[in-house]
Amino acid sequence: MTADAQSAFASYRDEALAAIASAGSEDEIEAVRVEFLGKKRGRLKDLQALLGQASAEDRPALGQTFNQVRTEVQGALESRQDALARPVEAVSAIDVTVPGKRPRIGRRHPLTKTMDDFKDIVSRMGFEVATGPELEDDHHNFVALNIPPVHPARDPLDNFYLATAGVGGDDDAVLMRSQTSTVQIRVMENTSPPVRIVSLGRCYRPDTIDATHHCMFHQMEGLMVDEDVTMADLKTVLKQFATAFLGDDVSVRFRPSFFPFTEPSVEVDVLWRDRWLELGGAGMVDPNVLQHVGYDPEQVTGFAFGLGIERFCMMRYQVTDIRRFFENDLRFLDQF
Ligand code: FA5
Repeated sequence: MTADAQSAFASYRDEALAAIASAGSEDEIEAVRVEFLGKKRGRLKDLQALLGQASAEDRPALGQTFNQVRTEVQGALESRQDALARPVEAVSAIDVTVPGKRPRIGRRHPLTKTMDDFKDIVSRMGFEVATGPELEDDHHNFVALNIPPVHPARDPLDNFYLATAGVGGDDDAVLMRSQTSTVQIRVMENTSPPVRIVSLGRCYRPDTIDATHHCMFHQMEGLMVDEDVTMADLKTVLKQFATAFLGDDVSVRFRPSFFPFTEPSVEVDVLWRDRWLELGGAGMVDPNVLQHVGYDPEQVTGFAFGLGIERFCMMRYQVTDIRRFFENDLRFLDQF
């Protein structure tokens, strides 16, 4: 009898522990609990009955085994219940053997990087950075730049005029600026000479988009006004600037050109690695422009330049298509 009871206890224990170990969900472990430890019909009750039938002599030893088995099964069940109730993430969060995810490191856009470099170089030459609005009025984009009402530069095919100009908002806002030269005017209107500034920012033109043109691009405007400023100063500043940015000793060439706000006007080219490349426009500030902002052209002279930032950036990093800058393709941007 005692031996029968002992082996019944042992097989109850083995079966209970196996069932507990293989339970894979909270429902399954609950079913195991009901089967092995349930108060009403659980198999523990059968073991209790065996205990009741044992002789008074055997009962203490059997009772001890019964208690051990019950405690062991109860403990195993509770720890399995705990494990199944815990969310899976909490378990994996402490798995130090899982390989880590490398964080993706951001970087500056090549144009931002170029503009930061430009600012560094020109600030060493004593130029301060000025800013102006991208949404401009007729006065700053045209009139003050010596562009009269019937000038081809005002052609709607060459400018982004606002359809809502003058409707329920800023009566003066008429177009997205087509050049950063607008900032020259804003600075001179508010500062007395001497002036030595640059302004970097976006410009907008309805140009046909191709490998070297976009409808939105960036320029760096430069303006220096003081007594006795000459074309030689302009050429020196541009040569030193291009040499500092491109890293080689470059040559700068002026070709005659025309801009309403400079006289004389030039196109600026740079000779870099055996090729002449166009950088932008420049010239001596037209006396009419100086007069318009209240400067005395008999007292001061000045030069101004406007360089295409994308063109410079393309040259330096050998980018062959301006469109790459605005596509946000990480395979391109990751290279800078
Ligand atoms: C001007 O915009 C004048 N404001 C420059 C200037 C400033 C002259 C001060 C005199 C005194 P231009 O239209 O040539 O000039 O443009 C200057 C440069 O901007 C060009 O050489 C080119 O590098 C860049 N650029 C012009 N249009 C585009 C475009 N659609 N896409 C990309 N870059 C452009």
